Amino acid sequence: MEIKQILFESAKKARLNAYAPYSEYFVGAAVLAESGNVYASCNVENVSFPCGVCAEAGAISAMAAAGERKIKAVLVVSDGKELVYPCGACLQRIAEFADDNTLIYLADTSEIRKTCRLQDLLPYNFKATELAHD
Ligand code: THU
Repeated sequence: MEIKQILFESAKKARLNAYAPYSEYFVGAAVLAESGNVYASCNVENVSFPCGVCAEAGAISAMAAAGERKIKAVLVVSDGKELVYPCGACLQRIAEFADDNTLIYLADTSEIRKTCRLQDLLPYNFKATELAHD
């Protein structure tokens, strides 16, 4: 199976577990890491609304917890009227482990509808290299 199809299936499967009783907007995300492994998650909301987390955040955390530090591609899926784009905070989360050309696939539950690069969605981002950490 083509890798973007694997990401699509993984994200859709995670989306089935989305916990979104407040927005009823169910999102799945899958990240392809450098090893070839795929990490997926869903949005998990909270009665204290700001505590909720996006699907992308969970997938990136799972990737990092597995010891991986490089995102090759991301796929986000939802079934809203409009295509789901990663929110600004999630673009910054992706940027931490990706580069300008990292692919971001946007899907509804029936198909992948759009392919972007990180630089299309976040042309400027705050880079860790700008911190005086070494
Ligand atoms: N959401 C995501 O999971 N990812 C995004 O990039 C945008 C928004 C979730 C957060 C919240 O649970 C729901 O969608 C409605 O905002």
